[in-house]
Amino acid sequence: MNVIKVKDYQEMSKEACKIVVEKIKELDRPVLGFATGSTPIGLYQCLIEEYNKKNVSFQDVTTFNLDEYVGLAPDDPRSYYYFMMDQLFNHVDVPQENIHIPNGVTSDLEKECHDFEESIRKAGQIDLQILGIGPNGHIGFNEPGTKFSSRTHVVKLTESTRNANSRFFDSIEEVPTEAITMGIETILECKEIILLVSGENKAETVAQLLNGDITEDFPASALHKHNNVTVIADEAAMKYVNKD
Ligand code: GLP
Repeated sequence: MNVIKVKDYQEMSKEACKIVVEKIKELDRPVLGFATGSTPIGLYQCLIEEYNKKNVSFQDVTTFNLDEYVGLAPDDPRSYYYFMMDQLFNHVDVPQENIHIPNGVTSDLEKECHDFEESIRKAGQIDLQILGIGPNGHIGFNEPGTKFSSRTHVVKLTESTRNANSRFFDSIEEVPTEAITMGIETILECKEIILLVSGENKAETVAQLLNGDITEDFPASALHKHNNVTVIADEAAMKYVNKD
């Protein structure tokens, strides 16, 4: 696992932005995986700036998102679909038909999971996946205890995750109890992975990721099994890790 230590949130976002832009330029038909949460917002702002400066185009980009809440429609401002349109896709030239985000309001969730996997396969796998990390080590919405062999599936969210994400809702009761997420095995099949981490509230999580055991109790530890993962972490997040 490659670790890039940067000064702060802004540097983390810029560093990630550079890598994503290079990847888009390098490939004819890049397939990118995106994440939600507060962490990648700076990256998305930087990508929009690069697009506005005409340094990059998303015309040939296909995108997949990691996860979506069950029960929130795409036009619900708290859905991950809405988040991605608002934070990135509405501001760049990615064709609408190239955007893939699990649908959390379908009557057949199992079919949705299956179709999502099928779309990734048809796109020829994800070239570069951006990840954030939950305080309990979740990636996507793969909660502790998720099998490393999991594919896209429906999960029951833990209280700690619902609590952590309740800041986007009026109250914890409104946070959905389930979500669809890419599985750990699906994530490990991405050709390259960038994990972004910022802030002191993630410092213990980063220390466990870099120094702890590989165990299904800490989903992000599965990333040690992948040969092309880069963690971009700022000084605050690296507080408990000895690395200059
Ligand atoms: C959510 C998302 C994850 C994300 C995590 C961390 O639970 N499902 O994909 O990584 O939040 O969010 P934040 O970046 O806001 O700390």
